[in-house]
Amino acid sequence: MQLRGVRIAGVARHAPARIVTNEDFERWLDTSDEWITTRTGMKRRHWAADDEATSDLAIVAARGALARAGLRPDDIDCFVVATATPDYIFPATACIVAAKLGAVGKPAFDISIACSGFIYGLTVASGLVRSGVYRRVLLVGAETLSKITNKDDRSTAILFGDGAGAVVLEACDADADSFLSAELGADGSSPETLFQEAGGSRRPFDHAAVDAGLGYIQMEGREVFKFAVTSMVAATDVALAKAELTRHDINFLIPHQANRRIIDAAVRVLEVPPEKVLVNIQEYGNTSSASIPMALAEAVEAGRVQDGDVVLFVGFGAGLSWGAVVWRWSALRSVA
Ligand code: UT7
Repeated sequence: MQLRGVRIAGVARHAPARIVTNEDFERWLDTSDEWITTRTGMKRRHWAADDEATSDLAIVAARGALARAGLRPDDIDCFVVATATPDYIFPATACIVAAKLGAVGKPAFDISIACSGFIYGLTVASGLVRSGVYRRVLLVGAETLSKITNKDDRSTAILFGDGAGAVVLEACDADADSFLSAELGADGSSPETLFQEAGGSRRPFDHAAVDAGLGYIQMEGREVFKFAVTSMVAATDVALAKAELTRHDINFLIPHQANRRIIDAAVRVLEVPPEKVLVNIQEYGNTSSASIPMALAEAVEAGRVQDGDVVLFVGFGAGLSWGAVVWRWSALRSVA
């Protein structure tokens, strides 16, 4: 099999209609807009409706990415969804997304690596294209974290939002390859640092688990915070070295949107000017695997990434896990 290039042919995002503001939380939690804004940078987040599942958000983003690429679901060879909040524990949400798009019969699978999902997904999906296994892969990062967040726990309730971002990856000439390098990592020695305890095989759901709130996200916030900055910077440096580039070669940075202070600290170390960093945490909160593709879609819509730019995607999350991808942006085709 001959290696070839991969590019993003289309990208789009979708967030559910319901908006929850910091002031809304003040009505039932011992918190304030001031605390949330200064500690996280968040102002609003979007929450799915009761009857809205992750695949519902994923499909809207997927349709948008296909439209921007001028393609139909039939043109896609493989469907991948990165999510920590699948519709069901099984089957994979990607199977549902593909079927709802009308692409029954095509391969479809999920990637479960929480907030690092899009970075891992981009690496895996790009590999499938560059190795010649598939010509086009649809990759969606989609989450409904509001469904597994304890709304009465002020330390987590305010952090998470719902949304989806999708990219269509397609084969291109090797000399136009967008994928320059990736650096991925994981350390599963303390999964309880950030996890959903019940619902899996170690702690199946029963009444006691539900009563104890074990179906909700639990997090040691300070531990995750410390790890986040270090891992983002380290992953970036290794990924850049693999691409034979330096920090100063970064034209645009799209970080996982977990906390404004985490992003600012990492950006300071990496010496990337603020105008070259996409931050939309104020609008969406932390949408886990959806945050990076949603931010990319926003950057592309706003014309903030230019043809030939070196774009760095970097993130971290439960696992613990982390990753960075160095990507050379190639302009989308203009579709009538
Ligand atoms: O996608 C990856 C997953 N998650 C993350 O990346 C999150 C990483 N961690 C963080 O972003 C931060 O640790 C948090 C935003 C979660 C918390 O910020 P912090 O500055 O680390 O605060 P803290 O946990 O050290 O808590 C400081 C105080 C505590 O009170 P005491 O013990 O000092 O009296 C908390 O009880 O703030 C209190 N607190 C709040 N106060 C008002 C915690 N949450 C709230 C709140 N409103 N919502």
